Amino acid sequence: MYKEEIETKDLVLKKASINDLNDMYKNMWSHEESAKYMLWIPTKNIEEAEERMKRTIEFQKDKIAYLVYEKKSVQAIGFAGMKEIEDKVYEDCGIGMGSKFVKHGYGKQILMALVEYCFEDLGAIKIICSCRSENIASKKLQQSCGFHYTHSQLMVDKRDGLKYMIDFYELTRNV
Ligand SMILES: CC(C)(COP(=O)(O)OP(=O)(O)OC[C@H]1O[C@@H](n2cnc3c(N)ncnc32)[C@H](O)[C@@H]1OP(=O)(O)O)[C@@H](O)C(=O)NCCC(=O)NCCS
Repeated sequence: MYKEEIETKDLVLKKASINDLNDMYKNMWSHEESAKYMLWIPTKNIEEAEERMKRTIEFQKDKIAYLVYEKKSVQAIGFAGMKEIEDKVYEDCGIGMGSKFVKHGYGKQILMALVEYCFEDLGAIKIICSCRSENIASKKLQQSCGFHYTHSQLMVDKRDGLKYMIDFYELTRNV
């Protein structure tokens, strides 16, 4: 139903494969700092990574959800996706890359490609993104792609029970 693959200048977004296990473990899932502002717990060993990859493959079926591959190194470096939360309204379900791959303009390529897909191919009228208030990189990424702040909401991190503030941004289609 949804695209199997989305290409940008430097990246390909495509469905996860068990062959990406080592790359995802090495590049992202084993890193505390990659998980810091997200909702997942870092993977401690390759066995856990294998289980996570199997769950990822299942999760991505029939969803706008992909691994992110860097073309030049031919490896998986992160993940990205969107979901339709109400008719023609889409919300990001997390965009993240390993710390070695941030600040290369990749986040912008990913978010712009997903925005274009949702607006042009899926008929979206509004796209929502969110991030923790202290996640400057994510906030800058959203602003850089034209999103504007709408509101904040207090949440509880299920990993440690601590409260945090999440900021919402949105982009509406120019018609
Ligand atoms: C958030 C994330 C996806 C951003 O991707 P990125 O590839 O680093 O972002 P880009 O290089 O495309 O930069 C996009 C814009 O944000 C700015 N930016 C990126 N990181 C920044 C930082 N740490 N501080 C300030 N500005 C930053 C860039 O300068 C750029 O702005 P510009 O277009 O005005 O020049 C990436 O940092 C990441 O994967 N972080 C870990 C996981 C995570 O927290 N994900 C978000 C969960 S909501």
